[in-house]
Amino acid sequence: MMIAITGAAGQLGRLVVNKLKSKVPVDHIVALVRTPAKATDLGVTVRAADYTQPDTLERALSGVQGLLLISSNDVGKRAAQHRNVIEAAKKAGVQWIVYTSMLHADTSAIKALSGEHLDTEADLKASGVPYTILRNGWYTENYTASVPGAVAGGVFLGSADGGKISSAARADYAEAAVAVLTSEGHEGKTYELAGDKAYTLSELAAEISRQTGKTIPYKNLSEAEYAKALAGFGLPAPVAQLYASFDTGAAQGSLFEDGHQLSRLIGHSTTPLATSVADALKA
Ligand SMILES: NC(=O)c1ccc[n+]([C@@H]2O[C@H](COP(=O)([O-])OP(=O)(O)OC[C@H]3O[C@@H](n4cnc5c(N)ncnc54)[C@H](OP(=O)(O)O)[C@@H]3O)[C@@H](O)[C@H]2O)c1
Repeated sequence: MMIAITGAAGQLGRLVVNKLKSKVPVDHIVALVRTPAKATDLGVTVRAADYTQPDTLERALSGVQGLLLISSNDVGKRAAQHRNVIEAAKKAGVQWIVYTSMLHADTSAIKALSGEHLDTEADLKASGVPYTILRNGWYTENYTASVPGAVAGGVFLGSADGGKISSAARADYAEAAVAVLTSEGHEGKTYELAGDKAYTLSELAAEISRQTGKTIPYKNLSEAEYAKALAGFGLPAPVAQLYASFDTGAAQGSLFEDGHQLSRLIGHSTTPLATSVADALKA
């Protein structure tokens, strides 16, 4: 089966392609990217495919049977972009689309992200093309990206309060995508994928403190205060507000899940928080 991966030059896409190479012959893998020059190191066939240019999509999907549609990072424009991919896949005769959605897309309080994913899920179901939905939870890296700043500032800031976060490493989600793409029995299914062991931001701060030997407490702010703090670190105000709203969603439980579907798919526990913190401290 010829398998294509969109967003293949992105962080998740690269991990997927590299894992897939150990499971299927490289000439069965097609990396679909916006800028082919960015993907020459992947070691697989690379085709130009821009979500906003339907003609490139249909051409790029020629001969493809299985498609991993990695959601676009163009928040606010994604549903239309994904629709272009689904329509092109249908025209090109793709037999199966696996889509990276978002944890609890139907009930999440993080509506700024979940609405578009729900729209794409609906489009997929209406397309008539067999599909599998991977509702990916939060990447642990979203939080560990703040580790260097927290160590430098002596405090971990957020507005997630005591919300439990069941994040997993990007690599875990990539492995799950590969497991699904290379095995049978997933058509029509929706998986809620998340880390095995939930933590609060206080627990994350305690882990950073343990590993660095410094006292780095978690300081909980209101959403508005946290947005202001993020803007103070240089984020554009609307992005700072959006990021702070994710923490409010976490406080409301939207990043929590204890069904362990991710570790079942990959056949081992998800990456422990301590490992992700250690990786962030090494970087
Ligand atoms: N679960 C989470 O915590 C979480 C966090 C962040 C994002 N996400 C979602 O998961 C996706 C994958 O995560 P990631 O870390 O790999 O993100 P990423 O590194 O930002 O990769 C996103 C990819 O989307 C591609 N893309 C954007 N617009 C496109 C277009 N018009 N046509 C074709 N490709 C386009 C980008 O292409 P270029 O390389 O050409 O820019 C990039 O390769 C994200 O796009 C986002 O939807 C999830």
